[in-house]
Amino acid sequence: LSTGPLTGVRVTLTAGPTREALDPVRYISNHSSGKMGYALAQAFTDAGAQVRLISGPVNLPAPAVDALVQVNSAQEMLAAALADPGDCFVGAAAVADYRPATVADQKIKKQGDAIDDMTLALVRNPDIIAQVAMSRPKPYMVGFAAETQALLSYARDKLVRKKLDLVIANDVSRPDAGFNVDTNTVTLVDQHGDKALPSQSKTSLARELVNEIAQRYQAHAKK
Ligand code: C5P
Repeated sequence: LSTGPLTGVRVTLTAGPTREALDPVRYISNHSSGKMGYALAQAFTDAGAQVRLISGPVNLPAPAVDALVQVNSAQEMLAAALADPGDCFVGAAAVADYRPATVADQKIKKQGDAIDDMTLALVRNPDIIAQVAMSRPKPYMVGFAAETQALLSYARDKLVRKKLDLVIANDVSRPDAGFNVDTNTVTLVDQHGDKALPSQSKTSLARELVNEIAQRYQAHAKK
């Protein structure tokens, strides 16, 4: 039986990319590996939390979680998130900002040889974490900010605009941080200030982040 700092706390976590279908054989997506989210899922479980992992398509072994919900699109991820946002919600997924306006029933065919251009109509996807932040009772909300410039000001803007309790800011222009690498360098941004953590493996960072989140969650839950 677990006796970690988050024993009995229900954590819902999104991870990985989303895939936005264009037709039965094509999609729009991104390079998210899901590594950070999966490492967090494992670390939350190790801390005693009851973890519900909502995952986009990744090439990773399933971590030891209470429930693994596999989704493809942002709309599916949103529905899964709202179905059970938990006591603490962590949005680690790299959700596609836009999706094709229509999904063709059949494979889209090439135009004739005389036509070289093709225009794709896209529409905005829902902001999953912002929608979960509007659900009641509101979970303790943790989001990520992956930026290549003005990291801390964008992170603080996200904290306020999406009504989050904590933003984990990630400078993805660094060679030792972000997508598809095994290390990460982050700064925690919340209403009390900023806290930079040393660059380290995603596994060890996940453990440190879960401790930081657990402390803040307990303080928040007492209020
Ligand atoms: O606005 P931006 O995408 O940079 O915000 C990143 C944070 O918001 C991450 O925590 C990400 O998981 C979440 N997000 C989301 N739904 C979206 C876009 C981002 O949950 N459509």
